[in-house]
Amino acid sequence: MAKPDYTSFAFPAPPGGRPYVVINMVMSVDGKTVIEETEAGIGSAVDQRLMRELRVNADVVLAGAGTLRASGASSRLGDPALEAIRTGAGKPPSPVAAVVSRMGDLPLERIFFTARDFDAVVYLSAGCPEERAAAVVATGRPVVRLPAGAELPAMLRHMRDELGASVVLVEGGPEINAGLFAIDAVDELFLTLGPVVVGGRATLSGVGGDLAFTRETAPRLDLLHAIPNPGTGEVYLRYRVRR
Ligand SMILES: NC(=O)c1ccc[n+]([C@@H]2O[C@H](COP(=O)([O-])OP(=O)(O)OC[C@H]3O[C@@H](n4cnc5c(N)ncnc54)[C@H](OP(=O)(O)O)[C@@H]3O)[C@@H](O)[C@H]2O)c1
Repeated sequence: MAKPDYTSFAFPAPPGGRPYVVINMVMSVDGKTVIEETEAGIGSAVDQRLMRELRVNADVVLAGAGTLRASGASSRLGDPALEAIRTGAGKPPSPVAAVVSRMGDLPLERIFFTARDFDAVVYLSAGCPEERAAAVVATGRPVVRLPAGAELPAMLRHMRDELGASVVLVEGGPEINAGLFAIDAVDELFLTLGPVVVGGRATLSGVGGDLAFTRETAPRLDLLHAIPNPGTGEVYLRYRVRR
């Protein structure tokens, strides 16, 4: 099978207190997720399609502010047929897009802020300067303040309680992924392995941040599928975090 179908997953019920959290990333064979500053060029058009298909399953699509600054962020499906799957199930055509930031220095000219064909919310740490929060509000996107030092659990709680989210799809980047692993709030990881070598000592991997796990504490994952695509040379991997 060259291309799997990512449009209809039956994810388990969310764990108590938060939505079900699924990360999706594309990675080179040497474990890097960035080439020349963005992920563009690691994955094929098929990988891009799978990213959009995964969004069909999500209530919220989250990106870290670093990803928004480097690559932009949105929750668009980009295909009426994918939107129809959602609307047929009584959902809005696109999930809610979300971005999280500590300092709020965000590119307000980006589609994330200017588009009106999808809803979006901006999560800002309590430490973010007030004028930056006000500038975000002026774009028409709502701002939710989060307690400094406990942003990610509070954000997930808000998504569940206020947005009614059962499934949150995290599209990076490495720092947000690390933050979510650090609080044991990742349930699944979809990973496209791209047949390319990036190199570079400091080039970002899929999970960045300051925390390095030990052999004892490293999250262990169970493989749910591994689907090769001889056409693109990619392998599409799906893992579930073992608990
Ligand atoms: N290969 C892939 O699939 C893939 C996917 C996504 C991104 N990427 C690449 O990854 C790079 C960006 O990754 P990154 O790790 O630098 O950035 P990131 O994870 O997207 O975002 C990091 C930013 O998120 C905010 N943040 C982090 N922890 C937070 C917390 N606890 N509370 C509130 N805000 C928090 C901070 O924003 P502020 O600095 O605004 O305070 C931080 O700088 C880009 O080059 C992008 O192209 C690759």
